[in-house]
Amino acid sequence: MAKLILTASKPLLFLQSKLFCFSLFYLFASLFLALYVISSQSKCLFRSPLYDPIQPSSLFSYPSSYGQHKYAISTTRSTCSSPINFSDYWDVLKEIQNLRKCSTRTLRYMQGNADSFGGNLSSHLRFSYFDHQNDSREVPCGFLKKFPISDYDRISMEKCESVVVVSAIFNDHDKIRQPRGLGSQTLQNVCFFMFIDDITLKGLEYHGLISTKSSEYKIGVWRIVKVSKENLYQNPAMNGVIPKYLVHRLFPNSQFSIWIDAKLQLMVDPLLLIHSLVISQNADMAISKHPYFVHTMEEAMATARWKKWWDVNALKMQMEIYCENGLQPWSPGKLPYASDVPDSALILRKHGQSSNLFSCLIFNELEAFNPRDQLAFAFVRDHMKPKLKLNMFEVEVFEQVTMEYRHNLKPSSDVSIAKKFSMTRKTVRAEPDLLYENGSCCSRCQQYLTTMWGDSHQ
Ligand SMILES: *[C@@H]1O[C@H](CO)[C@@H](O)[C@H](O)[C@H]1NC(C)=O
Ligand SMILES: *[C@@H]1O[C@H](CO)[C@@H](O)[C@H](O)[C@H]1NC(C)=O
Ligand SMILES: *[C@@H]1O[C@H](CO)[C@@H](O)[C@H](O)[C@H]1NC(C)=O
Ligand SMILES: *[C@@H]1O[C@H](CO)[C@@H](O)[C@H](O)[C@H]1NC(C)=O
Repeated sequence: MAKLILTASKPLLFLQSKLFCFSLFYLFASLFLALYVISSQSKCLFRSPLYDPIQPSSLFSYPSSYGQHKYAISTTRSTCSSPINFSDYWDVLKEIQNLRKCSTRTLRYMQGNADSFGGNLSSHLRFSYFDHQNDSREVPCGFLKKFPISDYDRISMEKCESVVVVSAIFNDHDKIRQPRGLGSQTLQNVCFFMFIDDITLKGLEYHGLISTKSSEYKIGVWRIVKVSKENLYQNPAMNGVIPKYLVHRLFPNSQFSIWIDAKLQLMVDPLLLIHSLVISQNADMAISKHPYFVHTMEEAMATARWKKWWDVNALKMQMEIYCENGLQPWSPGKLPYASDVPDSALILRKHGQSSNLFSCLIFNELEAFNPRDQLAFAFVRDHMKPKLKLNMFEVEVFEQVTMEYRHNLKPSSDVSIAKKFSMTRKTVRAEPDLLYENGSCCSRCQQYLTTMWGDSHQ
């Protein structure tokens, strides 16, 4: 199970002075030669044996009443076709600490005073921002209305530099989970922020996890930020989209972020993850592939069928508009984009022009249609400029670096539903579908559907 690593890693690229680089190089080269990487946790993850994570029990322990009926969803996968390699923890830590914010090109954001965060822009206007040629042109990017959090919280968010890990629980859907596998210096270099609403806050108070009298809430590693419900969207899922896609605006000084759905527990140190999935891949963003779908329309049909979004007519309209404006099914011509459908429960970003633009554009689509972010994903990605450098990693990587739990109220996640019905591409095609019932849908998507189905016949 042991492997010998003989290569030096890429961190040197990012260091400031050449001299410093050389001394570091020899230091680490000698370390690397002596190092062999063992499979810890599983044969999918390779990391240095010198790595000695702090134990979760030392982070926090919950009262036994809190979240007592939560079970992990086990994974059935036994293979690992794409193992990921983590560099040495101390090496990664130094590299990330030494990164300077190279302020190349930054986005300017539209300010305003609208009735909604995104400003209710027409499709035509939204799409006009996809091709970002002119850096002086302000991009609409949420917060055209004030986000209802305290100034105290806002200031501590702005102080977060380097790496931030962000999550949210609206409507008391999930249990707060402490990350595992943290290196001993990670809490000094990474901020963890959890956004919650009033209902979730009441639950935490009920379990004695926080006292609402204090001005700053903290549970284990997580700094808890209360979002007042007045001025929010009525749909809790839409509220979750705010920290998920506007993270670069909530944490304007952070260089990297990891969004993690609250149904997941992080099992690997965030610095190692950012290094291995973003920095060493030279990516702007890293996200998992969907376990079953590669085409946006497959996801749209599943969304209608499993009633993950109630307004099927609005789904149809969304797909019609995207087809009319150039949405294409996935094909090898889209490589290196490996799929059109992500599992967006874990998103790793390098905050910079491309990933910030992508996040703004997709947020606007979600406000315009619905919070199902997988539906707008490929349309935005394929039409935006400058291009997003995207690392779409395998589902098995996703399953190794996180542990999935069931939601409190809604028992289903994409993965668990798909597993339950053992859905295949064939059944997606064979069953009558809400989306194109009676031939009323998708006249503008005919070409798309023909190509997609023609493709899966082969
Ligand atoms: C991880 O390391 C192994 C062995 O050194 C190599 O074969 C593999 O391509 C590496 N994987 C990635 C994702 O870099
Ligand atoms: C958004 O704009 C449309 C017209 O483009 C209008 O019909 C609708 O009422 C607006 N919604 C809100 C919440 O302002
Ligand atoms: C860029 O945008 C600014 C502000 O919208 C505008 O004043 C300027 O003329 C634009 N420049 C070009 C070259 O289009
Ligand atoms: C499809 O046709 C059936 C029977 O004519 C009708 O009951 C149903 O409501 C129609 N569905 C849609 C989405 O129009």
